[in-house]
This record gives sequence, C-alpha cells and structure tokens, in this order.
Amino acid sequence: MREEHRRKLIQKALEARAFAYCPYSHYQVGAALLAKDGSLYQGANVENASYGASNCAERTAVFKAVSDGKRKIAALAIAGGMEGADPVDYAYPCGICRQVLREFGGEDLKVIVAKNEQDFKEFSLKELLPYGFGGDSIR
Ligand code: THU
Repeated sequence: MREEHRRKLIQKALEARAFAYCPYSHYQVGAALLAKDGSLYQGANVENASYGASNCAERTAVFKAVSDGKRKIAALAIAGGMEGADPVDYAYPCGICRQVLREFGGEDLKVIVAKNEQDFKEFSLKELLPYGFGGDSIR
C-alpha cells in the first residue's frame, strides 16, 4: 500500500488508543481502517464489567464503518499496549476480529500492526487467517 496511507493509518490507530475504555485490563488498543472509498474510521476497545461483553478496537472500527454504509475495507492498522505507555509489542488481532475482517476486507485486506510510525509489520489477512470461512461457502 502507499506509504502515505500507511503512515496515516498508523497515526490514527495510535491516536485512537486514547479513547479506549479499558478499566479492567488497562490494555489500550486503537485501530484505524481505510475503506475502499477512501474514508477513514477509528476504533478503540470498549470493555465491560461483564468481561464477555467487551469489544475489541478492530471490531469497533469495522462496525462503525459498516453501520455507515462502508462495507469494503482496504487496510487496517492496529496499535496496542498498556495504559499510559507507548506500545512495546505488536498487537495482533484476535481470532474473532480476524473473522470479522475477512467478512468486510476479504483475504487481500492489508493488516498493519504497529508500535509506532517507524516500527510496524504488514500482512495480508490471508496470512493471518489461512483457510478461512467466508460467505461464498454458504449457498
Ligand atoms: N483487544 C483488542 O482490542 N483487540 C485485539 O485484537 C485483542 C484484544 C482488547 C480487548 C480487551 O479490551 C483488551 O484488549 C485485553 O484483552
């Protein structure tokens, strides 16, 4: 993907961490996605006292986009780490998020995990979710 798009997405994912609601784990995650129409959406993790009701940053961003009519996603960046500190590790998307990303990004979706603008890795969703299940199997 284009360098400027990647840099912008990483910046926006880092920025979105500030809005994480994570009083239980204290682990702040931010995500930013680029829809195929060029629009950008941010998301953060939103936890709940009933832990299972929590939502990851990636899904927050995807659901914001889809509920706004943007069903095709080209790329998504993720940044996560303990509250009040810069990320020290790459935050890889959980299994449920990988499945949700497949639905709206397909296997070619670009997924960037970043510690900062200079230190990141880029994958295709296919690499993160090989042999995935998709709607084309349901006929
Ligand atoms: N989390 C995310 O936001 N994205 C992931 O892919 C993994 C985990 C959140 C969920 C929870 O609020 C916190 O990180 C600790 O698991």
